[in-house]
Amino acid sequence: MNMVAWIIQIAMVAMSILIETAEGKKDKVLYCSACRAVVDELNYSISQIDPKKTIHVGGFRLNPDGSLTDKKVPLARSEANLSELLEGVCDSMSDYALHVDPDTKKKQYKRFAPRGSDTGDFPDFNHFKFDGPEGSNSLKFACESIVEELEDDILSLFAKETDHVVDKLCNEVSGTYCRCATDIRTINKLSKTK
Ligand SMILES: *[C@@H]1O[C@H](CO)[C@@H](O)[C@H](O)[C@H]1NC(C)=O
Ligand SMILES: *[C@@H]1O[C@H](CO)[C@@H](O)[C@H](O)[C@H]1NC(C)=O
Repeated sequence: MNMVAWIIQIAMVAMSILIETAEGKKDKVLYCSACRAVVDELNYSISQIDPKKTIHVGGFRLNPDGSLTDKKVPLARSEANLSELLEGVCDSMSDYALHVDPDTKKKQYKRFAPRGSDTGDFPDFNHFKFDGPEGSNSLKFACESIVEELEDDILSLFAKETDHVVDKLCNEVSGTYCRCATDIRTINKLSKTK
């Protein structure tokens, strides 16, 4: 290898390290919001599927009386159906935008568009930022990287859990996306009082 090629290679390695560190620092709000949004959207999609629908997953289950029945799981929590929901989950990120709380200055991405039959309260549009580098495209990008990284964890959590999935997925499991949420709030508050 000649000298020039070697220098270029070293420079590229150094650059990729720099880029990685920069990304790790700046994107807590984005990635934590994306992680929470993934859980929220999946939870909603699951709740829209009739819980009485079940599918056979192959094999049999032994009953206490010694008889055998087909093994069934709720359709919404079957691996096939969860995978299908997961595939489409990041498309819903276009219904989210960055919201800045007018009082606390806390930043997070929130849903601004109502869902199907949902007519709940929606926050004031004035406090959303709809464009610029903080738009919903960056949330979609973060969503896709979270889904890619945590696919197996998401599938296994949603296959059984109903409660605390947000905390398990976004705070505990390999994703530590939301762990510093309080730090961010403190920093935002500090910069406000300055
Ligand atoms: C999941 O969805 C159900 C039904 O829509 C809702 O009652 C529940 O609060 C949701 N759970 C979470 C953690 O969002
Ligand atoms: C998942 O459930 C929905 C709603 O019942 C159904 O329309 C869809 O075909 C299912 N998909 C798979 C892969 O089982």
